[in-house]
Amino acid sequence: MKLKILITAGDGIGPEVTNEAVAVLKEVAAIGGHDFTFTEKRIGGVAIVKDGTPLPADTLEAALASDAVLLGAVGGNEFNSMPPDKRPEGGLLQLRSALGGYANLRPCFSFKELTVNSPLRPEIIEGTDIMFVRELLGGAYFGKPREWNKAENRAYNTMVYTRDEVARVARIAFQLAQKRRKKLCSVDKANVLEVSQLWRAAVVEVGAEFPDVELEHQYIDAMAMHIMNRPRDFDVVVTENLFGDILTDESGVITGSLGLLPSATIGGKVNLYEPVHGSAPDIAGKSLANPLGAILTAALILRHSGGLEAEASAVEASVRKVLEQGFRTADLARGNTRDFTVLNTQQMGAKVCETVKTMLVNA
Ligand code: IPM
Ligand code: MG
Repeated sequence: MKLKILITAGDGIGPEVTNEAVAVLKEVAAIGGHDFTFTEKRIGGVAIVKDGTPLPADTLEAALASDAVLLGAVGGNEFNSMPPDKRPEGGLLQLRSALGGYANLRPCFSFKELTVNSPLRPEIIEGTDIMFVRELLGGAYFGKPREWNKAENRAYNTMVYTRDEVARVARIAFQLAQKRRKKLCSVDKANVLEVSQLWRAAVVEVGAEFPDVELEHQYIDAMAMHIMNRPRDFDVVVTENLFGDILTDESGVITGSLGLLPSATIGGKVNLYEPVHGSAPDIAGKSLANPLGAILTAALILRHSGGLEAEASAVEASVRKVLEQGFRTADLARGNTRDFTVLNTQQMGAKVCETVKTMLVNA
C-alpha cells in the first residue's frame, strides 16, 4: 500500500500529538511493508506568523497532491481579534473547502476504563458507540451573504443548503448505518428553520433508497439532551455543519475527554483527518498533551485512505489495551497516581506503538 500523507501540525499541541500519530503510522508501514511518505507544511497561526496567511499556497498545493492530510490543531489566543477569514481557523476552513470532503465522520465511544472520567453515570454511558456524520462544507460556516457591518452595528450569516448537498451527506450516513446497527438519526431545527425543512425532506427522500435502515428525526435542542440521557440509543447521527460542531464537542463528555476523539472527512478529492480537540495553548510544548485522539485519527487514515482495516483495528485495540493496563496521560489520570501510571505525550505514543507492534507481529 502506497500513501502520500501531508502533515499540517499547526498550532499549540498540534505538533506534539501529530508526531506520535506519525510514529504509529511508520510502525504500521514498517511491519506491513507499506510505503507511506510524509511531507510537512504550515497551517494556522504558525503560518500567519511565518507566511502572513493561515493557508499558504504551497501548503494547499501539497495537500491537493497528497492522498491524505493529517491536521494537528489550529488556533491561538493572540489571533482572537482578527476577522474570521484571517484567523488560524480561516486557514482550516479554506483547506476543508479546497479538499472538498463534505462528510466529517466523528465517532464517539465510551471506553470502559474511562467511565469514571465522565461526569455522566457509568450505567448511562457504558457501551456508547455513535458515529456522527457532520456536514462540513455548507450551512452558516460557508453561506453567503455574511457580514459584520460596523457602521450599522449589524451582523448576519446565512445558513444555506441545497437539496443535493444534503442528499450526498445523507447517503454516506445511510451507508454507514447499513454496516452498523442500521439506525440513522437526522438532527435539524425543522420546527423553526426553512433550511432544516429542506434538510429533513432531502434526508427522507434519500431514505427511500435504504429501506433496511430505520430513520428518525430529532430537533437539535432535544438531541443535545438525548445524547446525555440515553447515548446508547443512537447509532449513526447525521446533521448540518454548526449543529454537528456543537453536538460532537458535547459528545466528548461521554468519552470523558475531547483528547480522545478522532475524525475523518471523506467524499472530496483528498481525505482530511483531524482530531476533534483544539490547540490547547496552555499546555503546548510541555509534553502534557494527550496524543490518543491524534493516534486514533491515524487509525482512520489506515481505514479510509489505506483500506487497511486490520491495521486500523489494531491501532484502536492498542489504545484500549494501553488504557486497560493503567497507562494515562495527565488529563486522563486527573491526579490519581495510585491506580495509574502517568505518561507524558511521547511515552504514551511509544507505549501505543509498542502495543501495535506486538499485536500486528503476532496477528
Ligand atoms: C472543529 C473546530 C473547527 C470547526 C474550528 C477550529 C474552525 O471547532 O473542527 O470542530 O468549527 O469546525
Ligand atoms: Mg468544534
